[in-house]
Amino acid sequence: MDREYKRYHEEEHEKPRVIEEGIWVAEEAIKKAPKLEGVPTGVEGLDDLFFKTELQDGKVVKKPLGGIPRYAVVNITGVSDTGKSLMVEQYTVKQAERGEPVAFITVESPAPFVTMGLRERATAMGIDFEKIKDKIILIDAASHATLRENIPNLLATLAHVIKTYKVRHTIIDSITGLYEAKEMLARTIVRQLFNFMKKWYQTALFVSQKRSSHEELSAEAAGGFAISHIVDCTMVLAKELIMTKYQAQIYKKEIGDIVRLFRIDGCRLCGHDTKTHFMEITETGLVKIGPPLR
Ligand SMILES: Nc1ncnc2c1ncn2[C@@H]1O[C@H](COP(=O)(O)OP(=O)(O)O)[C@@H](O)[C@H]1O
Ligand SMILES: [Mg+2]
Repeated sequence: MDREYKRYHEEEHEKPRVIEEGIWVAEEAIKKAPKLEGVPTGVEGLDDLFFKTELQDGKVVKKPLGGIPRYAVVNITGVSDTGKSLMVEQYTVKQAERGEPVAFITVESPAPFVTMGLRERATAMGIDFEKIKDKIILIDAASHATLRENIPNLLATLAHVIKTYKVRHTIIDSITGLYEAKEMLARTIVRQLFNFMKKWYQTALFVSQKRSSHEELSAEAAGGFAISHIVDCTMVLAKELIMTKYQAQIYKKEIGDIVRLFRIDGCRLCGHDTKTHFMEITETGLVKIGPPLR
């Protein structure tokens, strides 16, 4: 933080100059813009919630994207046990099946345990793990503090993995573990990660843990560090225990039931559904997005 602060002040005292390379004419910038394309997520009910608009004979039409926008950096947030890990594991398996290599940075659980989960998810999705296992590259930041606590090391390792294995998708489960005990750096770290994903043309899923004190389905993602302002897209996962007749009535459940909810909090790359949806974790351990609450 001190270093950041110092740099800021040094910059303030420089003689102001024009930064030519920061200026784009839209005509040129659009040539560098990627095509808006959906990446199927492997999560039932999710892919239909993103769309794009096109002009057809002068009329604006809404078209389904069929997944999250490619090259998006997506933040998946929620308290513990809401299905965040299941969701990114399904996504990982799906990309590997589609032949697109994935880097999976695990920050909480050692690589062999995550791999066990990935194999479970593959089986539940009807995909043979043997056929996809060479497409998933794990980076074990759970077991190695030098990866977890030194972001430059982590990014150098990831860059190496991306080049070596032609990786197109990066998962981080979770980014919260990368700024443990230095939460004032959360935004700086997430910004670095975000810029890296853009530079390396990754479609990325960042899991972030929400504290239970934060309102369940609020935009106060990632523990209120305003991370949702940095990333392209935020999805919020929640669970609620039905304790009152009123809740039972609005959710059409019984007292004592758990209701799982899902919402896309925002996505700046494409159009998206804005309703709160029921979510389900199936008996085989797969996350499924259900119908909207109303
Ligand atoms: N194989 C499974 N079968 C049924 N339920 C499962 C299975 N695996 C996980 N779950 C349930 O899904 C919940 C959410 O899991 P997880 O994705 O790990 O949550 P998070 O990453 O949000 O903490 C778990 O608490 C568990 O109840
Ligand atoms: Mg998890």
